[in-house]
Amino acid sequence: MKKSTKLVKLGRDPLKQKGFINPGIYKGSTMIFKNFKEYLHDINRKDDDSRLYGIKSNPSQKELEVAISTLYRAKDTVIAPTGMASIIIPFFAFLNSGDEVLINDSVYGPTRIFCNDIIKRLGIKIKYFHPTQNIKNFKKLITKKTKLIYLESPGTATFDIIDIPFITKIAKKLNIPTVIDNTWASPIFCDPIKLGINVIIDAGTKYINGHSDVLIGFISSDKKHYKKIRSTIKTLGIIPGSEEVYLALRGLPTLELRLKQIEKNALEMATKLKKHPLIEDVFHPALSHTINHNIWKRDFTGSSGLFSFSMKKHYSNKMIERFYKKLKIFKIGYSWGGFDSLITFPQIDKRIIKEKKYTGNLIRLYCGLEDSEDQIKDIMNALKIF
Ligand SMILES: Cc1ncc(COP(=O)(O)O)c(C=O)c1O
Repeated sequence: MKKSTKLVKLGRDPLKQKGFINPGIYKGSTMIFKNFKEYLHDINRKDDDSRLYGIKSNPSQKELEVAISTLYRAKDTVIAPTGMASIIIPFFAFLNSGDEVLINDSVYGPTRIFCNDIIKRLGIKIKYFHPTQNIKNFKKLITKKTKLIYLESPGTATFDIIDIPFITKIAKKLNIPTVIDNTWASPIFCDPIKLGINVIIDAGTKYINGHSDVLIGFISSDKKHYKKIRSTIKTLGIIPGSEEVYLALRGLPTLELRLKQIEKNALEMATKLKKHPLIEDVFHPALSHTINHNIWKRDFTGSSGLFSFSMKKHYSNKMIERFYKKLKIFKIGYSWGGFDSLITFPQIDKRIIKEKKYTGNLIRLYCGLEDSEDQIKDIMNALKIF
């Protein structure tokens, strides 16, 4: 079955849903056992998932878990109330005091804050590495204490592509679990399991829901690691809201359709910006001049709506405000993945490894579902103020 067919059918079974196309919403903390025998059976089971308790299971949550596992070809998926809440789970599942974790320096800002503020406090050492430079020496960063490798590709704000199979091959030999934040690509454009990844994070807040009205996160794992992930999230009592689960399920049938259009819109914009005389560089992995473009081509089947570009000169906030005021379509907003186009002005000064990647202002665009010509006109018109 092709992906687009799967997306329409997954997570919904009209026969179980009194004939309705979409599943119901199950709300509640309490589930009633059929009889005393069932209760005894439940007490004696080791399988967390089987217990009749709101935190442990919910029918529509189960449907969504199976749907995301199918899309990611994972053994199991658990769901968190935000993408950020899903990011923290592998750290708690795999790390103990005294361990070390390797993370690419271009990681999502709040992941860095979580590591620096909480994980470090637990006596765990965090080692950041550059996503593209000196990657041949990656093995040298690993010690006996390295118990987790956490990746995000493309990285936040600068969209650097990591050679994932190169890293997972090393990790597999040394029995170190690998995690990737795959939110940018979603299951439509990247198959992390095929690249050797063990655990996949997807902030469903973005593309899977796709309508900017839900916060939700997924953690999909392979056979070897799913039990630790599932027991950690359940022990922490982390579950998603039932309406959010319903809305994420509702996002699935249109996921590929939305992403294909978003991909086209963003690529057209990036190509146009690359030729603009005021622009120094465009950081979009599908553009052939970018570092590791060939690796992106090998490992991804498409590109999504989020990328950035740098100006040749550095302009003051006053000038940037004038530029922004000209925009009619692109609005300032962080959480991408919906239908609306967004713009932000990222800071990357928290990175450990300093590099001169660009000269002027860094501008991040998210191309949504408006007409591509209108999106391009909007940005080109605003750039005239410089
Ligand atoms: C790459 C990436 N991962 C995770 C998240 C976190 O998702 P959420 O907003 O649901 O916490 C974001 C949010 O911007 C993101 O960009």
